[in-house]
Amino acid sequence: MFPETRLRRNRYDRRIRELTAESRILTDRLVMPVFIDESLKGRKGIDSMPGIYRYGMDSIGDYARHLDELGISAILLFGIPEDKDELGSSSYDPDGVIQKSIKILKENYSGIIITDLCMCEYTSHGHCGIIRNGVIDNDSTIEAYGKIAVTYAESGADIIAPSGMMDGQVRAIRNALDTNGFQEIPIMSYSAKYASLLYGPFREAADSKPSFGDRKTHQMNPRNYREAMREIDLDVKEGADIVMVKPALFYLDVLTRARQFFDLPIAAYGVSGEYSMIANAVDKGLLQKEVIDEYIQSVFRAGADIFITYFAESYVSNVKR
Ligand code: PBG
Ligand code: ZN
Repeated sequence: MFPETRLRRNRYDRRIRELTAESRILTDRLVMPVFIDESLKGRKGIDSMPGIYRYGMDSIGDYARHLDELGISAILLFGIPEDKDELGSSSYDPDGVIQKSIKILKENYSGIIITDLCMCEYTSHGHCGIIRNGVIDNDSTIEAYGKIAVTYAESGADIIAPSGMMDGQVRAIRNALDTNGFQEIPIMSYSAKYASLLYGPFREAADSKPSFGDRKTHQMNPRNYREAMREIDLDVKEGADIVMVKPALFYLDVLTRARQFFDLPIAAYGVSGEYSMIANAVDKGLLQKEVIDEYIQSVFRAGADIFITYFAESYVSNVKR
């Protein structure tokens, strides 16, 4: 009798749909990004990202305790320092915003503390490294990255996540960590990070907009796909423990290919622009809020093991309820 194959059989009953689902969202695979502003008291909303705030040093402990109680298993820290200079020297200050914050967080949060490592929040010009002759000088920048990594590790960071897309940054950081006694600290590398316009809201949130030029001399060309495998491959060879594809939504193809090529854990970063598009559409009633589940699900289905998303906090608190 036609049709003899009836795929709807597995779909009629909600419980059977659950039983036969090919992937699911594990809340302990979600990472919540956290912005810490050294000169702020309390917290301050980010206009383009409803529900997301910058936290001052005085409020970060309470917020971390809240995330801990919710069961958020990992946070990714971004710092907005009081002082910026040409060389971004506040990034490796042992008394810098992230270094001080980690110590506070350690007392209030039992999950994994991941530190984003870049210089764009710390340089007066907003670029990801040290400028020489109008461009970012690769080799002096990765040396500085090594210094930053050591101060993060000394403060108690659990994972170091370099996002600067400099050549050789993973090896430089690995060497710096190892020679300072931090052989056991993993590196989560932003390996395939694209020069995307979806970072716009973040740059407002983190006050890290470049004052001239753009990030196309180091972040990947959005038109490229094969090159992402070269970036990831190099990072693996340099000693990355976890690799990342960023952004997530427009780059699910890259994520799927990375999953097929590599056997180490792969993270995806659902960036500020993705959050902003979806959260604002839901807020305005243009999309049902369950679209958030579909969004998160798509990233795991595409092959991510770990998903860094600004929805982590609200998603986990909804599941709990
Ligand atoms: C720092 C950094 C950026 C993001 C993460 N780390 C911004 C950038 O590269 O300009 C983007 C995160 C987001 O948009 O949510 N280099
Ligand atoms: Zn940067």
